[in-house]
Amino acid sequence: EQINKGNYEHYMQKEIHEQPESLTTTMRGRLIQGGLCKAKRVLLGGLKDHLRTIRRSRRIVFIGCGTSYNAALAARPILEELSGIPVTMEVASDLLDRQGPIYREDTTVFVSQSGETADTLHALEYALENGALCVGITNTVGSAIARNTHCGVHINAGAEIGVASTKAYTSQIVVMAMLALAIGGDAISSQARREAIIDGLFELPSKVREVLKLDQEMKDLAKLLIAEQSLLVFGRGYNYATALEGALKVKEVALMHSEGILAGEMKHGPLALVDENLPIVVIATRDACFSKQQSVIQQLHARKGRLIVMCSKGDAASVSVGGSCRVIEVPQVEDCLQPVINVVPLQLLAYHLTVLRGYNVDQPRNLAKSVTTQ
Ligand code: G6P
Repeated sequence: EQINKGNYEHYMQKEIHEQPESLTTTMRGRLIQGGLCKAKRVLLGGLKDHLRTIRRSRRIVFIGCGTSYNAALAARPILEELSGIPVTMEVASDLLDRQGPIYREDTTVFVSQSGETADTLHALEYALENGALCVGITNTVGSAIARNTHCGVHINAGAEIGVASTKAYTSQIVVMAMLALAIGGDAISSQARREAIIDGLFELPSKVREVLKLDQEMKDLAKLLIAEQSLLVFGRGYNYATALEGALKVKEVALMHSEGILAGEMKHGPLALVDENLPIVVIATRDACFSKQQSVIQQLHARKGRLIVMCSKGDAASVSVGGSCRVIEVPQVEDCLQPVINVVPLQLLAYHLTVLRGYNVDQPRNLAKSVTTQ
């Protein structure tokens, strides 16, 4: 299949804009609505023989690098909530550096777009040697990680050419949300929550289409930030990962220093950086952490922070401290799926910043799409 840019100037741009379609493909055939018992459920064929083992595991360990690690981090809270199993995170190289303990009773989940990243692959060998159940989540059928894991799920996002991962990230989160639903089983106590998530998954492509309409707004914002040295992104809860991933995009392609910050750690260092010059994006969409984020905004504002607040549609007045902050309003979805929506404006911002700064969007300096050496 000849992959070309169609009407787009760059692959990254094309891949950002095709997310409504790639997400639809990721979910195709996997969300079951109705049936005999009318219950909505998830069907992940590649896992069905292993779900019992996964449910009995003592711990679930997510392992990945770069954007794939961030996607797993975004899915962690919903997996913990629905499975009740402790979920820990490992950057593949760090697990190997430490030779961290992995047990037979663990389920290890290897997340990799390419399925070929050397560190992730070595971590897989290590987990296999230690007797853990190994699950692969990749975008590449027949890749080394897909072949060498016991079972897995393909994200089916379609080929991703831009070095900076965009559509694979959102599809990975959706697959891991479906994984959480599959592992979580069918307890009556969480039925309403599960159904709300499944409904949320169904409407996600159209909500992503809606958030993509912010393209021009993000280009205007990029024009304002073009000459900056640094950009901070504050997030927490479901959107801690969004802060890390947004900052990673800006760093990777726009070659601007950027740091994702866990808002709960604000007073333990980051606050010292705040002044009237440094731009700060604060993610404050509606979820259980909303009031805490409002308080973070107040505190940053009190230190004259230059704030750009991302909030749910209709919330501009409650987050902009008297209209003094720039606001990005995004459509609201089920809280655990909000990271899929919230990352899109940041992908667009990174894209436009890169083009405006005159850098190569699809082949950033010094980086490779697939890092196959350690
Ligand atoms: C490289 C790429 C990133 C990617 C990371 C992990 O750094 O430039 O976009 O997130 O590798 O790659 P993987 O294929 O394992 O997801």
